[in-house]
Amino acid sequence: MHGRHSHHLARTSLKSPIEQKGSEMIDQTHQSTTMQAITMKRAGSADRLTLSEVPTPVPDPGDLLVRIHAATVTRGDVVMRKMPKLVARLFGERPRTIPGYEYAGVVESLGSRAEGYTVGDRVFGTTSGLRQGSYAEYIAVPANGMVVSIPEGVGFGEAAPVPVGAMAAFDFLCLGGAGERSRVLINGASGSVGTFAVQIAKHLGSHVTGVAGSSNVELVAALGADDVIDYTKDDPVNSGRIFDVIFDAVGKTSEKQMNHLLAEGGRFVTTKARRRETRKSLLAVRDLLASGAITPVVDRTYALAEVTEAHRHVEQGHKRGNILIRIDG
Ligand SMILES: NC(=O)c1ccc[n+]([C@@H]2O[C@H](COP(=O)([O-])OP(=O)(O)OC[C@H]3O[C@@H](n4cnc5c(N)ncnc54)[C@H](OP(=O)(O)O)[C@@H]3O)[C@@H](O)[C@H]2O)c1
Repeated sequence: MHGRHSHHLARTSLKSPIEQKGSEMIDQTHQSTTMQAITMKRAGSADRLTLSEVPTPVPDPGDLLVRIHAATVTRGDVVMRKMPKLVARLFGERPRTIPGYEYAGVVESLGSRAEGYTVGDRVFGTTSGLRQGSYAEYIAVPANGMVVSIPEGVGFGEAAPVPVGAMAAFDFLCLGGAGERSRVLINGASGSVGTFAVQIAKHLGSHVTGVAGSSNVELVAALGADDVIDYTKDDPVNSGRIFDVIFDAVGKTSEKQMNHLLAEGGRFVTTKARRRETRKSLLAVRDLLASGAITPVVDRTYALAEVTEAHRHVEQGHKRGNILIRIDG
């Protein structure tokens, strides 16, 4: 059984009882030596994801120990789940037993040399390069790594889906040169990357045309797109319009196919390309979240024990925006 099925802009989201009571009430109850986590021993189908009791991580001197309140299931999580460890290593990925890329939570304790945070700080980030993922009650993350504070007034459920989708949208739109009055086409405007891309391109002052299926046309218009092409009725390849930036957020087209829609000097960018996460981008999307320029679209919310179902949903390739995992313990 899964949680809320209607999509919504996640303004009202996961606030833990601790968070609701205010920072002076931060729970300092001693933490147990084991925690609940989703583990996966070998690559394969979603059934391999198992709820387990595992040792709680012990932070290194430069680490924060974070009590996770919300995680997500991204497309990347599904790709990694299916990837044999050997292949993952070839791609420079660190295979791990506990999957999950995004998290939002509260600093529970700090290593002796961790700087910039105190117990009770609310933080969010990615687990790229770490030995453990975010489908767990706790994670140890380097204080100087891909972690930043959650802006005031933003809930865990709003912060958790931001890093992967919004950073990709931000980086690729910048790479494409989107800005004031650029004509921007966003293919796959209803996915995680796409819904952030529409909002970010509008924030940059661009004229945005989103491409989405019939059931998502309204959503993409509500996010601020000036025009929406329904790809089930009109092939964007034949739109006859001209764009300064074409961003394929869902990686379904090629530059060769779209070239004739580009203005002189225009650029085609796609999520099929590899990119490197930077702290600079994480801080940029944190600012966009703080100012209200971006609000994540949440399709469904699941409990930690329901991760298998969440993966099955994401795998179908039709999620709207983001999928949340609640880890309230
Ligand atoms: N390179 C990077 O650094 C990077 C970073 C993040 C993500 N990615 C990649 O970016 C891709 C997108 O990720 P995501 O999380 O945004 O995907 P997603 O949320 O799973 O995308 C699903 C959405 O795409 C729409 N869609 C599917 N086929 C479409 C088509 N032919 N034309 C237009 N829309 C279509 C679906 O709408 P309908 O239901 O209407 O079809 C659905 O709303 C993934 O391949 C992911 O691995 C890459």
